[in-house]
Parts: sequence; structure tokens; C-alpha cells
Amino acid sequence: MSEKKPVNLPYFDALFKDFQQGKTEIIQSFGNHVHWGYWENSATADGSIEDFTQAAEKLSQKVCDSAKVTDNIRVLDCGCGFGGTIASLNNRLNNMQLTGLNIDSRQLARAKEQIKPRAQNHIEFVEANACELPFANNSFDAVLAVECIFHFPSRKQFFQEASRVLKPGGTLAISDFVPRQIILPIIKTGSKLAKDTLLKTLGEVDLNFSLSDYRKLSKNTGFKPLIEEDITRNTLPTYSLVRKLQNKEDKIINFAESVSHWGIIRYFILSFINGRQ
Ligand SMILES: C[S@@+](CC[C@H](N)C(=O)[O-])C[C@H]1O[C@@H](n2cnc3c(N)ncnc32)[C@H](O)[C@@H]1O
Repeated sequence: MSEKKPVNLPYFDALFKDFQQGKTEIIQSFGNHVHWGYWENSATADGSIEDFTQAAEKLSQKVCDSAKVTDNIRVLDCGCGFGGTIASLNNRLNNMQLTGLNIDSRQLARAKEQIKPRAQNHIEFVEANACELPFANNSFDAVLAVECIFHFPSRKQFFQEASRVLKPGGTLAISDFVPRQIILPIIKTGSKLAKDTLLKTLGEVDLNFSLSDYRKLSKNTGFKPLIEEDITRNTLPTYSLVRKLQNKEDKIINFAESVSHWGIIRYFILSFINGRQ
């Protein structure tokens, strides 16, 4: 095990501050899921908090569906935030063994407080790094990572660990911001130049992993492709909602909206089957 590093997630520090100050719109929007929304038809988004919370729930469900999560199985949600996806599975499915894992104990404390197992479900929350999973081989039927893999120290280590803890035939599903291969050199240079700003707002992030990188990585770590879905257009209303909540112009949000709008960085749901015997 490597030495425990302090967690640097400035946007979560800001969320906790807002929660403490009782900012209800922020609590409603990000007190459960901390990710973008999914609208079947983004033209129907009405800009309300209720509409966004439904869209955020929908995105979570889509990732779970892409991993074929059903009743009676063991699921590990890595980078589980406040446990929104675990809560969703707990509300919708039965006889589940649900494990939420996060590197940030503050988020886990909120998740434990908020979520109580329903009926025959069993829930646990574990503090750990998603690249060093503290579980035995073949422990889970599905591993999820909703909008968090860009924070992990290494996608390769995470895929290797996911493969190890998954049963043969188990599924891995993630959602991630994926740059087009052709503009990868520009994104790499841009993220080096913007490193300090990114560190101060988002913490450590790596947004330099293309679809072809994912295809190679999954193949090399023994996964077979299941679903590759570009949902960029379905997530776009998120940006105006975030701007409205912040009540000010935010260069990162404006930039992210532009590159998403033009399909330069796309939002993907990717899922795989563990091909390891
Ligand atoms: C954008 S949030 C997404 C949270 C949650 N998946 C959701 O959709 O609501 C990113 C999450 O990744 C977690 N995270 C960052 N680095 C991690 C790591 N190395 N291992 C586990 N979790 C990590 C953060 O603490 C945070 O909860």
C-alpha cells in the first residue's frame, strides 16, 4: 500500500461549504449525484433544479444499465461521491450487495448518513484508492465508475484492479469526458498550460484519454467491449444549470461547454465484459 496522500478536490470543498451554509439549490442539485445530467432530448430541459436532479439520476441509471446491473448481484461503485448511484440501485433493485468506494472520507460520511439499506439490500462504504482496491479476486459482478476516472492516478491500474476484483464475465461501466484523437496533442498542451487553474478548481485531472486509448487499454487488460455510447448532446443542458447555480461566469464551464458543443471532447458511457477466465 502506498502512503496516504491528502485529498485535493477543491470543488468538493466548495460543495461542503455551500452545504454548511444551507444553500438549498446546491444541496438539491449536488447533494446526491455529483455528475452531469442526461436528457433523452436536451431540447426538453427546462433549466429547473428538479429537471436537473432527474437528469442526473437518469445518467446514473444509464451507466448501471450499460453494466447490465440487475437484482441479486454484487456491485462496486468506485469514486462513489455522496453515494448517489448506490442510493439509486438501493431504491430500484433487491437483494443487492452494494459497495461504494471513495478516497475522500468526508463524502463517505455523508453517504453513510444519507443512505439506509432497503429490504434485503446490504450496503457498505469503503475508504480507498480506486487503483488499489482492498477486495479479494472475483468479488463483484459489476464495477462502476461514474464521472470520476479522470481523477484516478492511473486508468491502466484501475482497469487491472477492476478486472481482478470482477468475476469472469462480470461487467465494468464508466462515464468519462473523452477527447477526439486528432486534437489530443492540443488538449495535452492546453491541460499543461491550464494545470494550475485545473488543480485549484478540480484537483488532479487527466482528460487526455481518447476512445482509441480506451479500446487499447480494455483489450490489454482482458476486457471485451460491450457498449460505447456518445451521450455528449444529451448532457449539454448541464452547463447552463451550473452557470445559473454559480451565478457568475466561469471560464472552465464556458470552455467545457464549447468543446462539448463542438464535439471536441465528447461524453461517453463505456462498458466492458471481463474476459478473464
Ligand atoms: C465528479 S465526482 C463523481 C462522484 C460520483 N461518482 C457521482 O457520480 O456522483 C468524482 C469522485 O471521484 C472520487 N475520487 C477521486 N479520486 C479517487 C480515487 N483515486 N479513488 C477513489 N475515488 C476517487 C472523488 O472523491 C469524487 O467522489
